Amino acid sequence: MKLLVTGCAGFIGSNFVLQMRDTNPDVTLINVDLLTYAGNLENLKALEGDEGHVFVRADVADRAAMDAIFSEHKPDGVIHFAAESHVDRSILDASPFVHNNVMGTQVLLDLARQHGVSRYLQVSTDEVYGSLGSTGLFTESTSIAPNSPYAASKAAADMLVRAAGHTHGMDVVITRCSNNYGPLQFPEKLIPLMIANALEGKELPVYGDGMQIRDWLHVSDHNTAIWRVFEKGRAGEVYNIGGNNEWPNIDVVKLILATLGLDESLIRYVKDRPGHDRRYAIDASKIRDELGWEPARRFEEALPETIQWYRENRDWWERVRSGAYRDYYDSQYAARLSAD
Ligand code: NAD
Ligand code: DAU
Repeated sequence: MKLLVTGCAGFIGSNFVLQMRDTNPDVTLINVDLLTYAGNLENLKALEGDEGHVFVRADVADRAAMDAIFSEHKPDGVIHFAAESHVDRSILDASPFVHNNVMGTQVLLDLARQHGVSRYLQVSTDEVYGSLGSTGLFTESTSIAPNSPYAASKAAADMLVRAAGHTHGMDVVITRCSNNYGPLQFPEKLIPLMIANALEGKELPVYGDGMQIRDWLHVSDHNTAIWRVFEKGRAGEVYNIGGNNEWPNIDVVKLILATLGLDESLIRYVKDRPGHDRRYAIDASKIRDELGWEPARRFEEALPETIQWYRENRDWWERVRSGAYRDYYDSQYAARLSAD
């Protein structure tokens, strides 16, 4: 089968592609990414020479470019990861979030329908549910109540996916996952930012009182769940994905410092994020009971392993921080593109 994967050069998408080439080599991957600031083609370096995948640089909201990709590669399924993903950036400027997350999703839905794709999976987020108090969990029937421009753009996209299923009879599924961690995460997100800053002896900026709670899940568990839903989920359904692993931010930061053998003097409490959601926590019993998925990785061992990855791959995140990673595409593809 042929699978169109968008956002293949980002954190979760690149881990998905690498994982799939390992576990499902019979699935051919048509990988699409615009290579925004968050897209790093170096993440897929290990696949050079692997004929089970192709990479195409394109904006998912560019109808003509995407139509050409569907026509040429004729994918059987679509898994849509591509998005602007960082809440703080959406507070500074929401426009790219509307373009990439909302328009991009509608263009993909239209083309998937026109080209007879058999299943479309939307990678969504628990942030569409808003914020929890000190008790309770998000279930699939929790009301949608997004609080940040990022969350609102993801919620809008989910509604468009739902409408495509309801109105056009498309086979669509939506996954809503909690916070991911693992290798290849852009060092603007909490865990890689704190590790990189600590390794460089820089301050660790903790927003507000640091008592906001997130439910952390290793990226490989998220990707296993996505593939399970793609293969076995019921059409038209939403599946929550979570780690049952709630941590206040400040405890995550202290754990990172302790694992690195550093004291807490680098911690710096800073002004809170506007509209900061207090607590996310997922009830993942639907995917467990219906599809038999449960997380395989425990935070207590997978976080130290992740910290070790950033220690051993300092070159990777230093190139991201310096911007040098952006040269990779040009050096890899300039000659090929001019040969076209
Ligand atoms: P990321 O920012 O690391 O990667 C996003 C990728 O999408 C980048 O490679 C970027 O170049 C690409 N992209 C952006 N706009 C595009 C466009 N218009 N056309 C083509 N490519 C485009 O994000 P991530 O953390 O890997 O998140 C992937 C998906 O998972 C997103 O949809 C996000 O909402 C969702 N999600 C993320 C988390 C998390 O904790 N990171 C949790 C739940 C859901
Ligand atoms: O819940 C899923 C979501 O998780 C995804 O949909 C988003 O794409 C992803 O970015 C993530 O959103 P968060 O806002 O929860 O992640 P972030 O890593 O930005 O922040 C995690 C928590 O840490 C949050 O409470 C804000 C706090 N924080 C973050 C940064 C970057 C800090 O205290 N200091 C920081 O410097």
